[in-house]
Amino acid sequence: LPAPLIDNFGRRITYLRVSVTDRCDLRCRYCMNEAMTFLPRTAVMTLEEIAAIADAFIDRGVTRIRLTGGEPLVRRGVPDLARMIGRRIGDGLGELTLTTNGTRLADHAAALHDAGIRRINVSLDSRDPDRFRHITRTGDVSQVLQGIAAARAARLKIKINMVALKGFNADEIAPMLEWCAGECHDLSLIETMPLGQIADDRADRYLPLDQVKAQLEERYTLLPIAERTGGPARYYQVTELGVRIGFITPMSENFCAGCNRVRLTAAGELFLCLGAETKVDLRQAYREGGPAALDRALDHAMQIKPLRHDFAIARGAAPTLQRHMSVTGG
Ligand code: GTP
Ligand code: 5AD
Ligand code: SF4
Repeated sequence: LPAPLIDNFGRRITYLRVSVTDRCDLRCRYCMNEAMTFLPRTAVMTLEEIAAIADAFIDRGVTRIRLTGGEPLVRRGVPDLARMIGRRIGDGLGELTLTTNGTRLADHAAALHDAGIRRINVSLDSRDPDRFRHITRTGDVSQVLQGIAAARAARLKIKINMVALKGFNADEIAPMLEWCAGECHDLSLIETMPLGQIADDRADRYLPLDQVKAQLEERYTLLPIAERTGGPARYYQVTELGVRIGFITPMSENFCAGCNRVRLTAAGELFLCLGAETKVDLRQAYREGGPAALDRALDHAMQIKPLRHDFAIARGAAPTLQRHMSVTGG
């Protein structure tokens, strides 16, 4: 039987995030610069290569796979990729999910459900058209809201991701929670992380979520939910609204001790921590030596997975990592 993936700190790796493209149709201010350079198309793996690598992970005990980007749905054929990977649902794979900015969901929601996806996360930092345009630089919020409605019609369970940003959307958190409750979506709040150079100083935008939680608790009762979804969020039931809220706190409360995940880029590099440059080239291993070489590369990867990230946000400081979030899709 193939050996499970266990790193040097005894952590079992059961979750793979796959960035299918580093490109995106938006330019969120906390994520990207206005002018970005992307991978040349020749560096990007084929969908078949991605599916083969996903298979190798499933054979080694990965039970959850999440497709991300950049924006995954800007790459042609991603619903086909979902169908390829989705064949393993029930055969090692427990769940296939997707994180999207929602702009192209209306076109693809039904195909994603057909492929076996049941749950998606949609990034939505504001429901106000002008603010949404400001935060994303180019986005049209009505397109995303239509995408969310289409996903719901296609029976996909939706979680809204909102990066909590001082001066951008802090006052919109409670209204977003109420809207999510009305639409039966869960909500996850996320602390901004120092990946990649952006125009703003992240220190001006960073909002620690313990502050947000304390403010919400002046209005609502938040009951901790013990059960974890396998992700970094800590969830609470909001008694008055009958909705769940998750807090993802990489900056204020580190969750690395329970890390279960690794990240594959569109170029086939496996990043072993969101907050480190440590990586292994899986595309090269696969091209040179097929599944056997992939297995050896995964064994090596487990030896070098870092214990934790060293993210820090300080005024005027350079980002901890040069790489932008869009390379690994979070
Ligand atoms: P679930 O699989 O449903 O738990 O989703 P998720 O919340 O992990 O995934 P999603 O793609 O929605 O990511 C939400 C945010 O969590 C993004 O900002 C990610 O960068 C962040 N995130 C996810 N995993 C990690 C992690 O291991 N470390 C850190 N620091 N952040 C993470
Ligand atoms: N810090 C925290 N979250 C980020 N995201 C993108 N860039 C950052 C950042 N620097 C979020 C997106 C999306 C998720 C995958 O990551 O908003 O919801
Ligand atoms: Fe695109 Fe997501 Fe980055 Fe926004 S946060 S620019 S939607 S990858």
